[in-house]
Amino acid sequence: MKICVIGAGYVGIVSAAIFAEWGHNVVCVDKNKDKILQINKGHLPIHEPGLKKLVEQNRHAGRLYFSSDIRDRLSDREIVVIAVGTPPGDDGRPDLSALWEAVESIRALPAGKLIVAVKSTVPVGTCAEISCFLNDIGNDQFEVVAAPEFLRQGSAIHDFLLPDRMIIGCHSEPAKQAMQELYKPLQCPFVFTDWNSAEMIKYAANAFLAMKISYINTIANLCEEIGGDIDQVAFGIGLDRRIGAAFLQPGVGFGGSCLPKDTQAIVALGEDRGVNMALFQEVLHINELQRMRIIDKLEQHLGSLSGKRVAVLGLAFKANTNDVRESPALMIIREITERGGKVAAFDPVVDMQALSGHLSFRPTGNPYEALQGADAAVIVTDWDEFRHLDPVKMRSVMHNPLLIDGRNLFDTAMMKELGIKHTKS
Ligand code: UGA
Repeated sequence: MKICVIGAGYVGIVSAAIFAEWGHNVVCVDKNKDKILQINKGHLPIHEPGLKKLVEQNRHAGRLYFSSDIRDRLSDREIVVIAVGTPPGDDGRPDLSALWEAVESIRALPAGKLIVAVKSTVPVGTCAEISCFLNDIGNDQFEVVAAPEFLRQGSAIHDFLLPDRMIIGCHSEPAKQAMQELYKPLQCPFVFTDWNSAEMIKYAANAFLAMKISYINTIANLCEEIGGDIDQVAFGIGLDRRIGAAFLQPGVGFGGSCLPKDTQAIVALGEDRGVNMALFQEVLHINELQRMRIIDKLEQHLGSLSGKRVAVLGLAFKANTNDVRESPALMIIREITERGGKVAAFDPVVDMQALSGHLSFRPTGNPYEALQGADAAVIVTDWDEFRHLDPVKMRSVMHNPLLIDGRNLFDTAMMKELGIKHTKS
């Protein structure tokens, strides 16, 4: 099939590369000329395991192209996939300007049947609006499909190839058949539904995941006060198949470009219609408090942070990505420096120099350099590299061996034996 993917972000590049790998002819367009120039030179804007190789393979095979010329590239396509960002606006509602810009480019196309699959996360009702807008001249030339994506950054290729389900919201047989053809290699269950339900499934799924994290963080905080090992508690809870073991990892709280944004958006959706959204408001509130607990713990152990040196290990919002959007690390660094503390930070893939222009911290070349002379260390990202840190070496380079472990990577008793005061998040 001839496919155009609009948007060269996480979802766009990963989808384009995998569609090409499946043998489709794919062009991925983005209005950001510099981004496309860099991709065409072999520099991907995102760190995603396995993606660079997949992109290069398919470019060389002649099945995958990147372009900044949307109109030129749309004309001979059978399916257009919209995968542009829908970042949060000032009021918590998603900013749909990039989405509508893409839709307008599609409407400007010469007549001819076209499937428009919306992978961007959009408020319930958007696909219906897009369909009205595209077909307002009355010839139903455009078949709109809501095709939400459930991939996670850091394991995006795996998630795309082995999804738990495909959700397809569409209102016509040709659209259904086109999507079945597009996703033919997948073995998972396909749920065919209407536009609104498909859009709701995406928000409801992300809000549920966010809720699970705030839930386990609350239980972790309770364990810390009254006893109980949270790792064992989470394991024991997760064995109940009605609950499930995934997303029960306590820590500094959820970040990234999706869970915080989509939970805010579902709150806004409900409030607009007078539905009580206190559950999800509390999920967001607990998440804010969870990040602040790191600062509370630092102050509890060090007193005033003024003049104190803190090593922050990890800037990305989770492991295996260079994405710092809504990363707890940013807020933690800001709070420490506002209280007069000094931060030395390390992350294996984030561009620390670029970030240090906006935040006050000293970028370092490895974890031990960040820990050198520190009064405390905070683990923010669950990078594997941090799991393998040598506690003896950590202790020897730190001024005060205090570790606030925001990802529960180490065992408190073992660290105590090695002379490190360890506290879970
Ligand atoms: C999330 C969803 O998991 C995907 O299904 C969805 O497609 C994606 O949003 C999206 O809407 O595009 P992502 O934001 O990449 O994916 O990352 P997650 O793995 O969900 O992690 C989100 C945050 O929760 C991270 O900060 C992570 O460290 C944290 N987390 C996750 C926990 O604190 N505990 C857990 O048990 C799991």
